[in-house]
Amino acid sequence: MTPTEELENLHAMIAHCTECPLHATRTNAVPGEGAVDAKIMFVGEAPGAQEDKLGRPFVGRSGELLTELIEGIGLTRKEVFITSVLKSRPPNNRTPKKSEIDACLPYLDRQLEIIDPELVVLLGGVAVSSLIGPWKMADAHGRFYDGNERTFFITYHPAAALRFPSTREVILADFEKLRAELS
Ligand code: URA
Repeated sequence: MTPTEELENLHAMIAHCTECPLHATRTNAVPGEGAVDAKIMFVGEAPGAQEDKLGRPFVGRSGELLTELIEGIGLTRKEVFITSVLKSRPPNNRTPKKSEIDACLPYLDRQLEIIDPELVVLLGGVAVSSLIGPWKMADAHGRFYDGNERTFFITYHPAAALRFPSTREVILADFEKLRAELS
């Protein structure tokens, strides 16, 4: 099977997944989208209302900002891969439960294996704690982290910038670091 076929099969499995109770309340699962050979993968927390409705990642207000940030580092959404730790929306966008994260993480692990990006950008505390451990965002943001097999870059979730204007400045500065590193 080609990586494209492997990813399509995986996403078809995710679309029908019943491993956690969120399948009962979601409209659509949101596996993620982008290039199968992406050099950079962005990982958020969980789909929100718009994403649940359309089955696509980061298409609401946070997504608008993420798209701007990606374009700001000279890339397009099509060139990267965008997904979240959870593939189903938690009711009222509540924080994901550990049991939901544990049930869903194998899908993200498999996406990482298939796409094998050079860099994984972790957007916010849930992505950070799920993939590299319980760091405090205030200390961790703007840093590269070398895991066993992958390099991560840590920044805040774009939703935080919509709530706190000062966080927007911090995220912009983090992405400037990222741009400088990539160029
Ligand atoms: N927030 C996320 O973490 N993921 C999405 O897909 C949308 C908003």
